Amino acid sequence: MKPKIYVTRVLPGDSFRTLFEKYDVELNESDLAPDEKTLIEKIRDKDGLLCLLTDKITKSVIDAGGRLKIIANYAVGYDNIDVDYATQKGIMVTNTPGVLTDATAELTWALILGCARRITEGDRFTREGKFIGWSPTLFLGYELKGKTLGIIGAGRIGTKVGMIANGFEMKIIYCDKKRNTMLEEKLGANKVELHALLQDADFVTIHVPLTKETYHLIGKKELGLMKPTCVLVNTSRGAVIDEHALVGALKEHRIAYAGLDVYEFEPKISPELISLDNVILLPHIGSATFRARIAMADIAIKNLETGLRGKIPPNLVNPEVLRYLKQ
Ligand code: GLV
Ligand code: GLV
Repeated sequence: MKPKIYVTRVLPGDSFRTLFEKYDVELNESDLAPDEKTLIEKIRDKDGLLCLLTDKITKSVIDAGGRLKIIANYAVGYDNIDVDYATQKGIMVTNTPGVLTDATAELTWALILGCARRITEGDRFTREGKFIGWSPTLFLGYELKGKTLGIIGAGRIGTKVGMIANGFEMKIIYCDKKRNTMLEEKLGANKVELHALLQDADFVTIHVPLTKETYHLIGKKELGLMKPTCVLVNTSRGAVIDEHALVGALKEHRIAYAGLDVYEFEPKISPELISLDNVILLPHIGSATFRARIAMADIAIKNLETGLRGKIPPNLVNPEVLRYLKQ
């Protein structure tokens, strides 16, 4: 008998097609995330789950998955899964790190430059037929050279963002629990506390995972520490920023600009954000390159297959599970 798996979305690439030969696959063919009720129903007789960051894998879903061995998330972030509970239940959880680092770091720079040079505002203005000729004061923005980039979270993606900053001749400061010798020794970056970073940086970019500790890491008080000319970019998870506080800061020009790829109540976006000119809004496309999305599928599927064979998958995020593994 082939192992049974539930797959919550069609994924790109060849590895995805091979799933149908090896496993008894139940596939959600719609482009919408299954709700909790559907997940509970589908997971009951399954050995493996291949899911997206938009699927909420709650305690109830995990409880329904009595035979479940592995949850393979198609994302580097896994805040959509109750990992502690899965661990207690002996279920392995995996993610797809590494392959989306460049794509996400590059999109971060698209946002930094887009804010600094008001790219989307300029595009709207031009399309609306408002461009009547060159002007010395039309759409003035900020240069990057000599400015300070503050990186919150210097993991893989934060480090890559720092490497690109070097090309713009920026100063780099970062905060992280751990020291990043690559940033310090190769790029002369300084490790600082969060409040110092917010006070000194001209551009702040967030690359932490969403956890209990990073929820609303940037709220009213933190926004208040930033320079009125500061640009804030977020390509991590929306709830790291208190979106309501951010709306206030942008509206009152307490910070200059924000570039957002993620939202606190995704896919809902505060209507006030939509009405503001000093923010760029993208639909969570940090890893959306052809290469990254295929590589993520390859990795997620490798994790799934390894876990189903009872072996330790390459990207296990809950190694403590090994103590509780089902036989
Ligand atoms: C995307 O947001 C991811 O976590 O992969
Ligand atoms: C996060 O997982 C990162 O790659 O920085």
